[in-house]
Amino acid sequence: MERPDNLIIVIFGGRGDLAMRKIMPALYALYVENLMPEKFAVVATGRTGVTDIAYRGEVKKALDGMAEADRGAADEKVHAGIVDEKSGANSDKFVELFHYIDFDTSVAGEYKRLPDFLEMIRQKFSIGGNILFYLSVPPDLYDVIPRNLALQGLNNEGDGWKRMIIEKPFGYDYTSAEKLNRTLLETWNENQIFRIDHYLGKETVQNILVTRFSNGIFEPLWNRNYVHHVEITSSETLGVEMRGSYYEGSGALRDMVQNHLLHLVGFVAMEPPSSIDSTSIRNELVKVFESLRPISSEEVHRTAIRGQYTGAHVRGGWLKGYREEANVDTASMTETFAALKFYIDNWRWGGVPFYIRTGKRLPTRVTEAVIHFKPTPHYLFSGESLCDGCNQLIIRIQPDEGILLKFGMKIPGAGFKVKNVNMDFHYSDLAAERIPEAYERLLYDCMKGDSTLYTRSDAVLAAWKFLDPVLEAWKNDSSIPVYGYPAGTWGPEKADDLIEEPELTWRYPCKNLAEDGVYCEL
Ligand code: BG6
Repeated sequence: MERPDNLIIVIFGGRGDLAMRKIMPALYALYVENLMPEKFAVVATGRTGVTDIAYRGEVKKALDGMAEADRGAADEKVHAGIVDEKSGANSDKFVELFHYIDFDTSVAGEYKRLPDFLEMIRQKFSIGGNILFYLSVPPDLYDVIPRNLALQGLNNEGDGWKRMIIEKPFGYDYTSAEKLNRTLLETWNENQIFRIDHYLGKETVQNILVTRFSNGIFEPLWNRNYVHHVEITSSETLGVEMRGSYYEGSGALRDMVQNHLLHLVGFVAMEPPSSIDSTSIRNELVKVFESLRPISSEEVHRTAIRGQYTGAHVRGGWLKGYREEANVDTASMTETFAALKFYIDNWRWGGVPFYIRTGKRLPTRVTEAVIHFKPTPHYLFSGESLCDGCNQLIIRIQPDEGILLKFGMKIPGAGFKVKNVNMDFHYSDLAAERIPEAYERLLYDCMKGDSTLYTRSDAVLAAWKFLDPVLEAWKNDSSIPVYGYPAGTWGPEKADDLIEEPELTWRYPCKNLAEDGVYCEL
């Protein structure tokens, strides 16, 4: 892969959790892989004053916290001499490229200092005019920062491109997202705006497109004629941790469904794009979102279930309930679990139910899409009802990334007894390949100007439009319960009722792709 052109990266919120946990390690991994520009510098901003030296120390510490596997791969490459000696991939040299500037992003006057500071950096490192601004800040600054940058002419591409990565959540509902969009487009062009949804940066999510469109065997079955229903789960074992105040204003629907889960739905359901370019893929994605059958406020009771975790003993320790978490209202109605049933009204999917669910403090951390194929029209093997859970294709996004096909096979011996067996592929079998972190891919793409895996404004708006009635009903209709569920369980039992056919249930995934069941090893 080619290295991007030289640039300066400006990270607003440079001392924040996201910057330290995701952005810095991703930049470092790209650096080790020789995928950063030949010349680049990072300018981080924050409210508190620290010296460049102290800041570099913080970044180095964050890199030390990188996943063992990633650090291993990075170190290995350095030792094997694979990395360009000139760029010298070691974290000491890497952090030398970091500079810190303290200013309050909410104060317009502060931005006047930025052009001169960037000019100084540009000269020091002989870098041209390309700048990538990363807004790793609270959402209420998403319009403030771009407007002020534009006032300083920092959106002007005369001397090099200017791009901006905006973190989620993009808006709070349809109206606020639309307003934010309009405000941004007053001073920036759509092709300068990169709205991030880190799920699109995950290898395994992109592989959904490859599985579907590079194989002749799946696509003919991928429609209402053969698919019974589609199930998507994204479960987490963690609670809200230190993010109580953010989460109180968000909840699972805004935090996970509006973006990550709907994108998974989009990739599973989209039509083949005319080519693998940004416009074609994003056109197909938005068509899926626009075909989502609207959920009326009367239907919300039946088709959307919300829950909130309560305190429980889990694996020998006591886990607090959501309402006991820091910065959470003791009478909070915010959902930490959401499950939805809906339809996509188009020719491919007409009549096929989609079930999606997400939650915090569930038994295991898993994200996967399950395509449940229709059973055979006639059960030939009498005495054996249909083989339970047969004919599922499971696309595992994380962990134990891979693909599993379940189908029925004859149990050896007399008669015709059918047993459910697995055929599976695990990414871990590709021993030589490291799965890059989502942020690596996304940062690289943005530096190269490729927006395929970033969200276009029409998709964001269509996703909000679909969810707005649910958000409204959950906010205004107190007769819709927030079901409590003990930490460490699969969410409220009521979510089972979404699946109307009594013989069907959600899949209860285990950590290992090939296993499932309520009592699997966690
Ligand atoms: C983030 C949400 O976007 O995604 C978090 O804000 C959530 O609440 C996280 O924990 C999950 O991401 P991943 O990659 O760990 O599945």
